[in-house]
Amino acid sequence: MLITLGLVLAVSAASAVGTRQARREQTGLKGPGIIDICSSCGPNSPLREARVSTLVHVPSGESFDFSLAAANGRDRVGLRLTAGSAVLFSNVGGHETRLGTGSRNTSRTISLDGWKKVELDWRGNNIFYRVYDSQAARPGAPLGGFTMDRLDVLPRKLHIAATGGTTIDGTAITHVVAGYPAGPGQLPTTASQGIYFPANKKVVPVPTWLSLSPSLPAPILDSDPDLVRLYNNTWQILLSKNILQPRPSSPLVRTYVDSGFDPTIMFQWDTLFSLQYAIYAHGGFDAIASLDNWYVVQGPTGEIRRAYNSRTGAIHPWAAGPNGVNPPLFAWAELAAFRQTADIDRVKRVLPALRAYADWVSVQMWSQASPHQLYWNNGNGNGMDNLPTQLGQGGDGGTNGVANVDMSSQMVLMRNSLAELEDAAGEGDRAADHRAWADAIAEKIRRLAWNEEDGRFYELTASGAQWKVDSLAGFWSLLAGVASPAQASRLRAALTDASRYWTDMVFPTLSQTDSRFDPKGDYWRGGVWAPTTFATIKGVQQTGDRALARAASERYLAGIRDAFDYSGTLFELYAPFKQSSAYISASYTGEKTGLLRPIVLPNVTLSGTHVAPGTDEKGSALNSRGGSDNLAKDQFVGWTGLAPITLLLENVIGIEADSPRGLITWDLQRTDRHGIANLNLGKTGTLTLIADARASPSSHTHICIIGEVSKSLTVEVTVGSTKVKMTLAAGAVNDCSSTATWQRG
Ligand SMILES: *[C@@H]1O[C@H](CO)[C@@H](O)[C@H](O)[C@H]1NC(C)=O
Ligand SMILES: *[C@@H]1O[C@H](CO)[C@@H](O)[C@H](O)[C@H]1NC(C)=O
Ligand SMILES: *[C@@H]1O[C@H](CO)[C@@H](O)[C@H](O)[C@H]1NC(C)=O
Repeated sequence: MLITLGLVLAVSAASAVGTRQARREQTGLKGPGIIDICSSCGPNSPLREARVSTLVHVPSGESFDFSLAAANGRDRVGLRLTAGSAVLFSNVGGHETRLGTGSRNTSRTISLDGWKKVELDWRGNNIFYRVYDSQAARPGAPLGGFTMDRLDVLPRKLHIAATGGTTIDGTAITHVVAGYPAGPGQLPTTASQGIYFPANKKVVPVPTWLSLSPSLPAPILDSDPDLVRLYNNTWQILLSKNILQPRPSSPLVRTYVDSGFDPTIMFQWDTLFSLQYAIYAHGGFDAIASLDNWYVVQGPTGEIRRAYNSRTGAIHPWAAGPNGVNPPLFAWAELAAFRQTADIDRVKRVLPALRAYADWVSVQMWSQASPHQLYWNNGNGNGMDNLPTQLGQGGDGGTNGVANVDMSSQMVLMRNSLAELEDAAGEGDRAADHRAWADAIAEKIRRLAWNEEDGRFYELTASGAQWKVDSLAGFWSLLAGVASPAQASRLRAALTDASRYWTDMVFPTLSQTDSRFDPKGDYWRGGVWAPTTFATIKGVQQTGDRALARAASERYLAGIRDAFDYSGTLFELYAPFKQSSAYISASYTGEKTGLLRPIVLPNVTLSGTHVAPGTDEKGSALNSRGGSDNLAKDQFVGWTGLAPITLLLENVIGIEADSPRGLITWDLQRTDRHGIANLNLGKTGTLTLIADARASPSSHTHICIIGEVSKSLTVEVTVGSTKVKMTLAAGAVNDCSSTATWQRG
């Protein structure tokens, strides 16, 4: 027997707080229930965020609509539950539309037995829904979601409609809302960009080596002055060409780190990786502010595409449609900067833009109608153009529902990085939401994409079958913390396997065991690229294997230096295997600009084999002189700066700072006198850390720490399994002999 409770129609609700209303019992529904959930909103202040939920029982043959409605109470977007299914729909001007097609189909088959908790989560034009047993915990990942690209509905009210047999618990209706700041100009329109990040234009002069070098961290490596020279040269190349000022007429607001391709186009994934070293300049140049240019062109739905015209701020045609979304790494880059600068004001300023972007990308790249419900990207979007993947360079996962391990892992990395930033900003509830979502994605990757026999994570087809290509795409699971310890150990074993990934230059993007692997590179079919090698090394470090992270960093850096010695420059990518001097001497770069140049300096005569730049997507056919005419771009700083700067400081010297936590870690492995002078910790101060030379990695040494810190700081030094902690008190630090002197064992 059904007991039917009617709707609570006369619910008045205060804005910005959850409310519980008295339960009223009433038979049959007399019309839609409309609840004002933002009574204090002005006419120009729609809700940016609204989470509404209730408890409902929908028997077979009955239906229930739970929607967010505009001020007129009629136009709405929301969820319809009928026997066995849930779907998002909109109704605007009396015209009803079911939301989502292809793998973006928001329709789910669900069991509606018993009481269900139903939730709508509206975030700046992205709507997500959850339906779960009333007694169960709120699921980390939503069941479906949609981006309203047109702002048809500016939600102000909760609209409830149901057939007579549906039972709603009126006491369980809750809502939590947040509005835009009221006032004209805040109303989002499809033309409005940057609403999540109000910013005035502030363009600083491009720094020079002379102006910047005194504020840079200075590596100290007594037995390896060449690496210090390479470090200096890397900064010099960056400063000489790849820091740009936007034009006065451009909507961009900051002097920024450019990708090194074409000054008229901003490229997202290049920028995000270049920042992982450029942030070390923060004492003299605010590199992370480069991202402000991306937040000011962000769309009102949270959309940030992978390339923009730097003169006009318009989306570049290359970034349209399914080719338009890069790995979602803004939060990861902001977190890296925050760890150095402890600039919590910036974190608070950028969080609205990061959240909106996270929600948008979570819908756009979600194969939500597929059984795996993971995320997709194609070669243009994932940045690995010709790597063999199901979607190839331009396929549309939004229609065919595949899953990629790199994109799915990057979503986990994004949510967990956001969680850390939210925690720092005191937003614990939001942090918990991001973590729950990250955990839900990670669990699915581990369960569905892992192949125990092969010890790899693979792409999934729309039906959930594994699609087997052994490439670095699956190794993003390390950095994202997705791989279990057992899975991570299988992956590390592959990285150190000379028949797979342990090549002369580490790590090739495609395993040698793939028939398409090219020892000369062929772009992403064996080429060794800074972003993927960096992400893989940092992933290995994340699993706790600092020794392998260091060995890989040293091998990669040694290769870059080998090529630097004969070419005087850094390249966009490298060949995985060393090449003969004859080949290198007969090879050219510059094919893409129509200006072929030899890569070997005129005063250098090569002999033996050497690390060589990789061939580009034109492949590795030889020219008439036995070399290549298709070598990768030179002067590439550019993301190749990651090894001579970040990997040198963090994995070769082994020092890393977490300024907000007041923690410096030092993985002490070298035996020469080494360290970092002038390590800028932003608001926390500046330190110089130097270890004396010693006879062997097991003999004792002295560490000197000099500088000034604004708060107490811990320096944690690790040698093998021994850990020594030093505490520095706030104020001037000059710890050369007493507390900082330690003996191993
Ligand atoms: C969405 O999927 C459902 C099945 O769950 C199907 O009936 C419906 O036609 C699909 N809608 C669209 C627009 O693809
Ligand atoms: C690198 O640059 C710094 C700062 O100008 C300078 O003091 C140092 O001598 C340079 N080192 C090498 C090896 O070029
Ligand atoms: C070759 O010339 C470059 C400048 O073009 C110079 O930096 C380099 O030191 C020279 N190398 C040798 C081996 O003379």
